[in-house]
Amino acid sequence: MADALRLPAERRWADELAALAAVDADPRPAGWRLSPRAVQTFILGSGDAPIAWTDGDGQAHETVIGKKFYGADVLVQRAIVTLASDRGLLLIGEPGTAKSWLSEHLAAAISGSSLLTVQGTAGLTEDQIKYGWNYALLLAEGPSEKALVPGPLYRAMQGGQVMRFEEITRAPHEVQDTLLSALSDKVITLPELPGDAGVVLARPGFNLIATANTRDRGVNEMSSALKRRFNFETVPPVQALNEEVRIVREQVGRLLDEGGHTATLGDDVLELLVTTFHEVRQGQTLEGVQLDRPSQGVMSTAEAVSVGLNAALFASFFADGQVTPEHLALQLGGVVAKDAREDLKVIRAYFDVAVKPRAQRAEGAWKAYYAARKLLS
Ligand SMILES: Nc1ncnc2c1ncn2[C@@H]1O[C@H](COP(=O)(O)OP(=O)(O)OP(=O)(O)O)[C@@H](O)[C@H]1O
Ligand SMILES: [Mg+2]
Repeated sequence: MADALRLPAERRWADELAALAAVDADPRPAGWRLSPRAVQTFILGSGDAPIAWTDGDGQAHETVIGKKFYGADVLVQRAIVTLASDRGLLLIGEPGTAKSWLSEHLAAAISGSSLLTVQGTAGLTEDQIKYGWNYALLLAEGPSEKALVPGPLYRAMQGGQVMRFEEITRAPHEVQDTLLSALSDKVITLPELPGDAGVVLARPGFNLIATANTRDRGVNEMSSALKRRFNFETVPPVQALNEEVRIVREQVGRLLDEGGHTATLGDDVLELLVTTFHEVRQGQTLEGVQLDRPSQGVMSTAEAVSVGLNAALFASFFADGQVTPEHLALQLGGVVAKDAREDLKVIRAYFDVAVKPRAQRAEGAWKAYYAARKLLS
């Protein structure tokens, strides 16, 4: 168990990044820690083949690079190409489709740090992105480099690293437009400082990954000047049920491990969980029967992971650690009806339309799941 609640990607996968760097023979774009191909392997995994490498102390290791993003490989490849170009990368899509996750892992692989990040909010100001001042020093000594408090954009440009801008469309327009000179001229000017100190030129390796959520204020409202400086990449929800099963299994397992919990989410219960999210999100069952969709609730993979984790914690704290269909049902209502109470009807109807027939055919754990519908609240 780590001493931090959540480690950033570059620390969580430090051994994988070290393995890739050790065997990476391809050319690296200026300022990059890894070649584009190695960045791709970090995100998409090395399959079952371990990488044999030797560390600085001469120790031999074999490291399998895990798959971290499921979806079209070409999406990841295009994202990597964009980051080596002079345009920023904008990942857009529905909530919970791994936009932030992908951006974190790309930044970790390319720059060795995913922490040069700003979160877009209505209250975000320009100095939280570029630079601010230590006001005590500023008043005492006037503007100087010592009194300067560099923001993530300043540090990313100076260090030739990737900066992340989460939920960019939630920031006020004038604040978003702070990025224009950074993206086109690759420079920040500090009118307060004289001479060279007042000009920060971006080192090679600098670029920007922004994310935006289609449920928030749209990217359409970004200024067209800023939009032109980004390549857009839409991240769709996971299409294949078996891939979603793998994501939820891996993520819940990892979160339980990191928290030092022991609980078992068996494959039969995992199937119930992921199938429910998948079918309600698609608005139809695997057999093609139409379903109502929640008006507000988001049935994303991220929410499925969270239901799985909570059910597992419940099982570990208050039962024998084996997650049952009842534990799932207890968590489900809260997710679906998060924003609108009437969405609870949608999930109740789902049990009648999709779960009941499977229960009647006595498939897997569906019978117990159907019986647990009284726990939806
Ligand atoms: N295609 C996918 N591949 C791997 N993991 C996924 C995928 N889709 C969702 N996930 C999982 O979902 C979780 C949440 O993803 P993340 O927070 O990055 O979503 P997001 O798109 O940024 O959502 P939001 O728009 O709400 O910010 C991640 O932990 C990730 O493991
Ligand atoms: Mg996000």
